[in-house]
This record gives sequence, C-alpha cells and structure tokens, in this order.
Amino acid sequence: MTAKMHAASAPAKVILFGEHFVVYGNPAILAAVNRRVTANAGIEKTGDIIIKSEIAAGRYSTQGFKARVAGAEAKAILDPLHDAIMRVIAANKRKVGVRVDLSSEIPHGIGLGSSAASCVSTVAAVDSIFARHGREWICRKAIESERLVHENSSGADCYVSTFGGLILYNRTQGYKRIEPKRSLSLLIGNAGGTHSTGDLVARVGRFRDRNQSQFRDLALSARAICKAALVAIRSGKLEQVGPLMNENQELLAKIGVSHIKTENLIDAFLRAGALGAKITGAGGDGGVLALAASAQESHVIAARVRAGGWDSFQAEIDSKGLIIHR
Ligand code: PMV
Repeated sequence: MTAKMHAASAPAKVILFGEHFVVYGNPAILAAVNRRVTANAGIEKTGDIIIKSEIAAGRYSTQGFKARVAGAEAKAILDPLHDAIMRVIAANKRKVGVRVDLSSEIPHGIGLGSSAASCVSTVAAVDSIFARHGREWICRKAIESERLVHENSSGADCYVSTFGGLILYNRTQGYKRIEPKRSLSLLIGNAGGTHSTGDLVARVGRFRDRNQSQFRDLALSARAICKAALVAIRSGKLEQVGPLMNENQELLAKIGVSHIKTENLIDAFLRAGALGAKITGAGGDGGVLALAASAQESHVIAARVRAGGWDSFQAEIDSKGLIIHR
C-alpha cells in the first residue's frame, strides 16, 4: 500500500519596488502571481528523506546524501528543502522518513521566488501529514530554511508566497496588504539566464561596504520611490507607477545588479508600450517585470516583445497565497 500523500501549493512572486534595499531594512512592494509550486508529501517507510523536483532529486539517509538528478548541484538545491522537512518533523515531535515530490510552473532562478514557493509548499505539505499549524508558523519555518539559500534573506519572498496578494513588506514590521484602486496589468519577461540570489545579495553587500555614504543615499531614494509608488497604486495612478519602476531600475543598475541582457529586455518592453519596466528579484540576466496600462494593452505588449525574440507572459496577482489541498 502506498502512503497517503498531502498536497500544498504556493505562488510565485514579483518585486515591484525595493529589492536588495529590503535586506537592509527598507520597505518593498511585492505581489504573489499566478504560477505555483505544488508539493506532495507522505511518510517514507525506509525512514529516509527523499525529495524530487523537476530540477533535482535525491535521498538523505544515515549514509548521507545521494543525488538522483542534477548531480553535484542537487545538494545545494535540495538542502534548504531538507532542512525545512527536518524542522517540521522535529516541531511535530516525530522521527519518521518523509518523501516530497514537487512540481513547478515557476521558471527557476529568474527572480520569481521559486525557491521560496518550494519551501512554503513543502513546509505546509509535510506539516499536514502530522498537524495543521497556521500560516504564520509555516511562513516562519520556510524563512528559516530559505536563509540556507542566502543567509541575509529578507523573508519577503516567503511572506508573499504564504499570504498572497499585493503587499508592503518591511523586514522588522512584517507585511501589510495593499488594496490597489485599479488592477495592475503585469508582464514578466525572461532574459534567458539564471542567477544566484546569494551571490547577487553578497555583491550588493560588498558595494555597500565600499560605498557607504553613496549606498545610504541610494537607499533613501529607494525608500522615497517605494513610498510614492504606494500612494500611486492606492490612488489608481498607474501612469505614475510606471516611471517610478524605471527610477527604481536606475538604482538597481547603480548597485551593480543589472545586466546588459535585462537592460535590452527592459528597452523592448518600453518600446512595446509598457508604462515602466525593471528587474524583479535579485537581478543579473534573469527576470524583468513590466507594467501595462490595461489588460488589453498587456496582451499587445507581450505579443510585441515575443515577436522580438524574447520570452514574455502576462501575470495576474494571486490573492490566495498558500493553499493546503485536502
Ligand atoms: O531573486 P529572488 O526571487 O531570490 O529575490 C531576491 C530578493 C532580494 O531582495 C534581492 C533578496 C531578499 O532576501 O529580499
């Protein structure tokens, strides 16, 4: 007889304003978007921990770790999920093996929070084998494990993936839901590469150490942009939100996380009629976020950008966040 499986799914995220600066206590505006990771978890009779995703698979046993897919990289990809599983088993005071199968609609490593969504859905699916902790608990456990991916994680990705919607996040004050007066028509583009969030966060850390007063000024500008964007989103002034995204992009370029490929893709969005466009997430040559004036406009923009040879798709805000499937 196969073990009963417990499923949970969590959405991707985009950062509209404030990435990187959020690590140093600045506010950020994020949204959960309609692409999900689903985790299925069940008891593993051998007592081992087996994790399988589309990009890596492996087994943790008393003999250590053995990769099944992705070879040498598998351990780095799976360790945070293993850590999350062990924390949940320990918190539920059990000593059992667990198997987790993940399936994802979120492109990996382009700033859409696929590792956070994997952690959140894994914590929830494994927890529901034993108990039913609340969302705050699940989010906290996921953040602790995400810190293995990069130790300075602001926690923002896990927050928005757990709670969904459009949120204002601050590392010390937590999150606040934002109600936009007009719905935001978002577009996501993929410049083709993948990034390591930890490496890019460390790069910004080095920039900050070497340029302390410049970084302080840039962080102040980022804070002002985020504040102005909040007012514009709440009052439905999308024509102000777009240019603020462009200003935010300039700050990201100054701290060294932009890339020629993402800049070309940003240009492609702006030429196709987007109100604004910027990197989303850690940066490098990964994901770009753009804003259109309406859903109809975003359809036209996505088609134009795709005709230019780029990968681009429309995204809707996901207000549900974590779903525990029963
Ligand atoms: O690229 P992602 O999805 O890992 O997002 C990272 C966001 C940062 O602000 C750069 C880091 C953080 O912990 O908030």
